Amino acid sequence: MFHLKTPKGLSKTELYKFLEEQAQALITGELDFIANSANLCSLLWHCLPDINWVGVYRLKPEGLVLGPFQGKPARTRIPLGQGVCGTVAKENRSILVADVEKFPGHIVCDPASRSELVVPLRVCEELVIGVLDLDSPVENRFDLVDQEAMETLASILTRRVSSLLKGDL
Ligand code: SME
Repeated sequence: MFHLKTPKGLSKTELYKFLEEQAQALITGELDFIANSANLCSLLWHCLPDINWVGVYRLKPEGLVLGPFQGKPARTRIPLGQGVCGTVAKENRSILVADVEKFPGHIVCDPASRSELVVPLRVCEELVIGVLDLDSPVENRFDLVDQEAMETLASILTRRVSSLLKGDL
C-alpha cells in the first residue's frame, strides 16, 4: 500500500520537492508507462491545490490520444497543433496559459477551467511522446515554479522509457 500524507505548511518549492520524491517512489520498479502515468496523475490530483483536471495525452501517429487522468471526462483525441496540448506536442515546449479565453483555439473540456499548464513528455531529451496537462478553475493559477516542477515530474515519468530505448535496463 502507498501511504499518501502531504505534510502541512509546506512552501510551494517544498511541496514540489516532496512530490518529486513521491513520484520517484511510485515509479521506481515499474516500467509500464500507463501505470506510472496513472499514479503520477493521482499523486498530483490529491496533493495540488486548485486543480480541476490533470492528465496525460499520448502522442500517436494520428495525434494526441487521452491517457490516464483525474477530473471530468475529456476530449479523447486532439490533432497535433490544435489547442494548448496539440501546440505543446507540436512545438515541443511548455505553455502556461494564464487565461484560457485568451488562448486562440483553446479546447474546452471542463468549462470550469480558467488557466492551464501543459508540458511535453520527452524521451531521450527531445522526442515528444505526449503531454502532461493541468487545468485550474483559478485564473493565473500556474507560474514558472509550477512549470519547472512539472517539467521535472515529466522527466521522472519518462526516464524509464528513455532508459528502455537507450538499452540501459
Ligand atoms: N484545454 C486543452 C484540452 C484538454 S482538456 O483541458 C483536458 C487544450 O486546449 O489543449
